[in-house]
Amino acid sequence: MTEVNTLLLYCRSGFEKECAAEITTRCAEVGVYGYPQFDPEQGYVLFHCHEPDGALTAMRKLRFRALIFARQWVACMPRLDNLPSSDRITPIREQVALLPKTSELMVEVADTTDGRELHGFARKFGSALAQALRRDNLMLPRKQRADWRLHVFVVDGRTLWVGVAPIGNSSAWSMGVLRLKFPHQAPSRSTLKLEEAWHYFIPARRKEQLLRGGMTAVDLGAAPGGWTWQLVNQHMFVTAVDNGPMNDDLMESGQVEHRREDAFTFVPSKPVDWMVCDVVDKPARVTGLMLTWALNGWCRNAIFNLKLPMKQRFDEVERCLGHLRDELAAAGIDYRLQARHLYHDREEITCWLSLTPEG
Ligand SMILES: C[S@@+](CC[C@H](N)C(=O)[O-])C[C@H]1O[C@@H](n2cnc3c(N)ncnc32)[C@H](O)[C@@H]1O
Repeated sequence: MTEVNTLLLYCRSGFEKECAAEITTRCAEVGVYGYPQFDPEQGYVLFHCHEPDGALTAMRKLRFRALIFARQWVACMPRLDNLPSSDRITPIREQVALLPKTSELMVEVADTTDGRELHGFARKFGSALAQALRRDNLMLPRKQRADWRLHVFVVDGRTLWVGVAPIGNSSAWSMGVLRLKFPHQAPSRSTLKLEEAWHYFIPARRKEQLLRGGMTAVDLGAAPGGWTWQLVNQHMFVTAVDNGPMNDDLMESGQVEHRREDAFTFVPSKPVDWMVCDVVDKPARVTGLMLTWALNGWCRNAIFNLKLPMKQRFDEVERCLGHLRDELAAAGIDYRLQARHLYHDREEITCWLSLTPEG
């Protein structure tokens, strides 16, 4: 296979620089060299690998989940330009013939205002394309198992990227985005961050073990209660720590104790199953707080936000997570740490620190 040397990465518009720095760093760590290319706010980044099959090599050597800022990654053939509107399918067919076999197609656009205007086109074009590719035996029947998924990324009606992503090492969601419906009883939109975090981080096979009724939780920086609402919705008992007021209906559930205290000095009376933290403070300070909880064994799992600084956002994330990893390792603590710039995150990332990792 040749020419699959561009990695296309989708990200939130405005975070191209972080996504580019991250893929360049992670690829270099596994010996895949190249250079990133992007325009500000275009909602995606290209990483051109020097080796002809560099994009596929990167996907073999890296775990998609190790990336924070990329919502999806696709190993692409060279960009298709100046496509005639009368026949876009023939040039795509030629590229697909050189790629691994797939049974699923996602035709996607950037998550930007311009991109969203192409949604209708992408949907219609996608069904025509899938039909044509299956007819020519360039795609397997829908139900047949394949290791790869075919992606077509629409830049505009005349410009497309065609590529593949490994099904077991990429996002399963279209555009790498999990859309959630806002639960109207929840006191704040922040509630979606914790819901998405659980969907993204916790594998389905561990859901029942990790999110159970009767568990105990501490919510640091809880007001007005969007995250507490999610914990209560899982039938947990929650200590909500915040000087601000909590939502009245939530307090009436009888499952919440409100403590008007400083999250940085609060000490739980007993270890809890979950600690979640949405305190707005410097990322290094919040990292220090997470470390205190982990080193003292005050929680089994933590989900926390790191608010990103205005500048050097990627460097700061690397510093904070590196520090956390180093200190936990030095203390001999068994842990798993994952971080993600979630769809519902803006100037922050969300992290899951598991202190009771599997096997
Ligand atoms: C982004 S809001 C939390 C929103 C909440 N997760 C929700 O879903 O409704 C941040 C909260 O952190 C609280 N906060 C900031 N510094 C704090 C501290 N040192 N101790 C406790 N709470 C703090 C603020 O009062 C604010 O309510």
